[in-house]
Amino acid sequence: MPEKCTVNVPGCGDSLLSEHVALMGHSCVSFDFEPGVISKMKERKSAVDYQVGDMMKMHWETNSFEVVLDKGSFDALCIDDEEATRANVGLYCDGIKKIMKHAPNTDRNGGFILISLL
Ligand SMILES: C[S@@+](CC[C@H](N)C(=O)[O-])C[C@H]1O[C@@H](n2cnc3c(N)ncnc32)[C@H](O)[C@@H]1O
Repeated sequence: MPEKCTVNVPGCGDSLLSEHVALMGHSCVSFDFEPGVISKMKERKSAVDYQVGDMMKMHWETNSFEVVLDKGSFDALCIDDEEATRANVGLYCDGIKKIMKHAPNTDRNGGFILISLL
């Protein structure tokens, strides 16, 4: 990743990945749909902006982040090959495309980093 990126971490859980990202100097927003997990992570008083949110309803503005960093959360969505699951994956991908920077006239477009065990 380039220096001082704006990073979004979907489905952060209680992983310390986001804190490591923030310690590297990036601005990090991390979210999970489990409010209890987010409360616990907020108690850590780190530089990470932890929020409750749904991967299928990315509520941030268009072009908000330079990097979307997914570790294991895409895997959690891909539970089977059913139509509903495919629809959810589609919603998630649409959300990523929306919040990731892709303005053609800037020198820093967005990137999606996926760490998966699938
Ligand atoms: C396999 S865990 C990965 C956790 C973390 N990213 C890590 O690196 O350990 C998947 C996480 O995604 C979260 N999750 C699953 N579906 C979600 C959704 N629709 N919106 C937000 N978070 C979700 C779960 O609560 C869980 O914390």
